[in-house]
Amino acid sequence: MSSLIIGIAGGTASGKTTLTEILKNSFKDKVTVLRHDYYYYDKSYFNVPEGQINFDHPESFETGLLIEHLNKLKNGEVIYRPVYSYKTNERLEEKKPVKPSPIIIVEGILIFHYQELRELFDLKIFVDTDADIRLIRRIDRDIKERGRSFDSIKNQYLNTVKPMHQKYVEPTRYLADIIIPHGGMNEIANDLIIRKIKTHLYPD
Ligand code: ADP
Ligand code: C5P
Repeated sequence: MSSLIIGIAGGTASGKTTLTEILKNSFKDKVTVLRHDYYYYDKSYFNVPEGQINFDHPESFETGLLIEHLNKLKNGEVIYRPVYSYKTNERLEEKKPVKPSPIIIVEGILIFHYQELRELFDLKIFVDTDADIRLIRRIDRDIKERGRSFDSIKNQYLNTVKPMHQKYVEPTRYLADIIIPHGGMNEIANDLIIRKIKTHLYPD
C-alpha cells in the first residue's frame, strides 16, 4: 500500500498541531508526523541579531531536506530528522529516527508555498482560524512553552509574523483541498478527514 501524504497548513496557532494529534491518536502507529519546523535553520545561519530573525519567511527552513526525507519515507525508508529548539533557536546535535507508515502527515505554516513540496501531498488541508484568536493562543503558548516574554512576542508578531502571514501563508489557503474553519476542534471536519483516512487504510 502506498502512503497517503496529508499536508496540514494554516497560520501560527491556528490548530495544526491539535488536528495532527487528533489524527495521530486515532490511528496511532499507522501515522508518521513530520513538522516543517524540525527543518528550521540554526540561528547561526541568519546574518542578523537573534531577536530580529524572520522565522516566518519561506527561506528560513531547509525545505529541500524535508522534501528528500518525505520522498524516502514514501519509498519505505527510515529517515533521521533534525531536532529544533524554539527556546534557543538552534538545531540540536541529535537526530531522531522516523519510520515510514501508511499515513504521513506534514505540518507547517508555509508547506503549501513550495510547489515541489505541495505536489507531494495527496490531501491538502488549511486550518483557518481568525487572526485575533491565533494571536491570543500564540501569546499564551509562547510564554508557557517557548520561554518568550510578552514584549518579544509582540515585537515579533508585528515585525515578521503578521506581514509574512499576509504575504506568504494566507495566499496558500486557496491551494488547499479542504479549508477547516474554527481550527483545532472542529469535530465534523475532523470526522470527515478520519473517514478519508479509513478509506485509504481499509479500501474494502
Ligand atoms: P499550531 O500547530 O497551528 O501552531 P496548535 O494546535 O499548537 O496550533 O494550537 C495553538 C494553541 O491553541 C495550543 O495551545 C492549543 O492547545 C490551543 N488550541 C488549539 N485549538 C484550540 C481550540 N479549538 N480551542 C482552544 N484552544 C485551542
Ligand atoms: O506552531 P506554529 O505553526 O505557530 O510554529 C510556527 C511559528 O513559530 C512561526 O510563526 C514562527 O514565528 C515561530 N518560531 C519562533 N521561533 C523559532 C522558530 C519559529 O517564534 N525559533
